[in-house]
Amino acid sequence: MNNQDLVNEIRQKIDIVDLISEYIPLVQKGKNYFGVCPFHNDTNPSMSVSREKQIYKCFSCGASGNAFNFIMDYDHIEFKEAIKVLGEKAGVEVQGITVAPKVTKFDRFYDVYDLANKYYQNNLNSKEGQKAKQYLEKRHIAEEIIKEFGIGLSLDKKDTLMNILTAKDYSIKELDQIGLVSNNHDTYINRIMFPLHDISGHVVGFSGRIYDDSNLNKYLNTKETIIFKKGECLYNYHIAREHARKLKFIIIVEGFLDAIRLSQIGYKNVIALMGTAMTTEQMNLVKKLSNNVYLSLDGDNPGQNATLNIGEELTKLGMNVKVIEMPSDKKEHDPDEFIIKYGKEKYVSLIESALNYSDFKINFLKKGVNFNSDLELSNYINSVIKEVSLIKDEIRREIILKKLAIETNLSYNTLEKRLNEYLEFQKVVTKEETPKVVETKEKNKANKYEKAAYALIYGMVNDPWVIRKFEKENVRLLTKELRYLASEICYYYRKYGTINMADFYTYLTDKEELLVVYNFITNLDYEDEISVKAIEDYITVINEYNVRQEIKRLSDLVKKENDPIEKAKIAEKIRLLRIGE
Ligand code: CTP
Ligand code: MN
Repeated sequence: MNNQDLVNEIRQKIDIVDLISEYIPLVQKGKNYFGVCPFHNDTNPSMSVSREKQIYKCFSCGASGNAFNFIMDYDHIEFKEAIKVLGEKAGVEVQGITVAPKVTKFDRFYDVYDLANKYYQNNLNSKEGQKAKQYLEKRHIAEEIIKEFGIGLSLDKKDTLMNILTAKDYSIKELDQIGLVSNNHDTYINRIMFPLHDISGHVVGFSGRIYDDSNLNKYLNTKETIIFKKGECLYNYHIAREHARKLKFIIIVEGFLDAIRLSQIGYKNVIALMGTAMTTEQMNLVKKLSNNVYLSLDGDNPGQNATLNIGEELTKLGMNVKVIEMPSDKKEHDPDEFIIKYGKEKYVSLIESALNYSDFKINFLKKGVNFNSDLELSNYINSVIKEVSLIKDEIRREIILKKLAIETNLSYNTLEKRLNEYLEFQKVVTKEETPKVVETKEKNKANKYEKAAYALIYGMVNDPWVIRKFEKENVRLLTKELRYLASEICYYYRKYGTINMADFYTYLTDKEELLVVYNFITNLDYEDEISVKAIEDYITVINEYNVRQEIKRLSDLVKKENDPIEKAKIAEKIRLLRIGE
């Protein structure tokens, strides 16, 4: 069995609707399923998935493909890796395929971080690591956790790591650029070291924590380097990803220790912001894992403000946000301290009683409002109604409005009227935001001949009859790419005796320029069953075009030709073409 057969077998055993459902929620509408496309920034369900064709396509950004393409793009993995992953899912042996480790221009830096990481971890078990070990123990970080999170120690010496690495042919300049050396000595001195990973799991940086009562900065983080982008880093992301998908939610905390503690009590779907800021890149990374987010930030003021801001942004991105609140008498705590003090069960019940973000926000809005002041009261009412207008669930809207009516002594009808005004206003605003789609449609406008060629190729991958017709009629397509694509389709069909849209995607995986054209074509909205008559019409259109092009070419030639006999010959050719012979 060759690779293509193996790959097709895997693809046929995986249902694309089931597969994509594991990553993004899909809703069935007619024959197809729809969801929010994970490959561009959106909140509208512009991705459609076809069970029949076993492909997905996004009407907005044009992403499309089969099951392999989906996980390659989603998980940033190579084709061979994707074969392994889906092969396992499908229960198909993939022994024949070995996945060569991907060679990247960053390998040298990943390697150096790997070395540094191992070195730091070793230090913790050395004699000089005793004090740090005691500190970790005091903070309830057991041996297994140290191992699991790769926690280490930088020694109280200036250049031990630098010496090791320069002996391995890394220059001081290079080590400085990558963040391990600064001012000609080790960057990290006498700190407990937390390795930071990129989304694929490479160690790309460190955060070092002081563990004695020195008055240095509590944490020292790796500077921005070519492999460490702070704004894209989320602590524990590479581990949380698979757990978040299985559990269908993700928990966001502020600190390393919070993430480690939650992971230890069984919530491995946790990531830490490493502070209270969250960038758009980080939000999009989270969105890829799950649409359901629990914010479990510190109970102090910065934590609460961050909850408000981040919750707002994540909601705008279309995510369901819940807020885990520290009980009001334990506000000063972060999740780590809370769990150590009150135990796992108490934290679990905090999760269970988490507030919807909108309720959290409304509670927040109410704080300090003087209900006796008309102005404050009406501001409060307006801001709550504005919040309610963002809630999609009508029952929740009504519940909140009823509460608000009682609380403010206003009639429900008055509030509802105001809410409807807001909703109308939002419709106007969203309408103004739609031209994006129109623009792509505009781009899709092709001329008659191009359209005919696209339709023909679309037909070829849907029905081999069209391939046979195409070959028999010797159709010549307009551009080099289209001709190349068509000839690959014919080749594939001859070789495997069958063809379909989904499998042909796989065949094109390493033919990037063809894949672009193919993607474009499969994204067009043609009927699946193109009639014989339609195909014949398309071929006629293409032939007409070719004739016209040929006439144009010959006419140019005739003008340049000086020999009267040659001139007459060409003119005759033109005449014959014109009358259609
Ligand atoms: N942080 C940082 N630099 C600092 C302080 C904090 O990078 N000087 C980041 C760290 O990633 C830290 C997070 O912000 O984990 C939250 O800060 P904090 O709540 O102070 O830290 P904890 O995780 O609670 O750590 P600890 O319990 O050890 O104080
Ligand atoms: Mn904290």
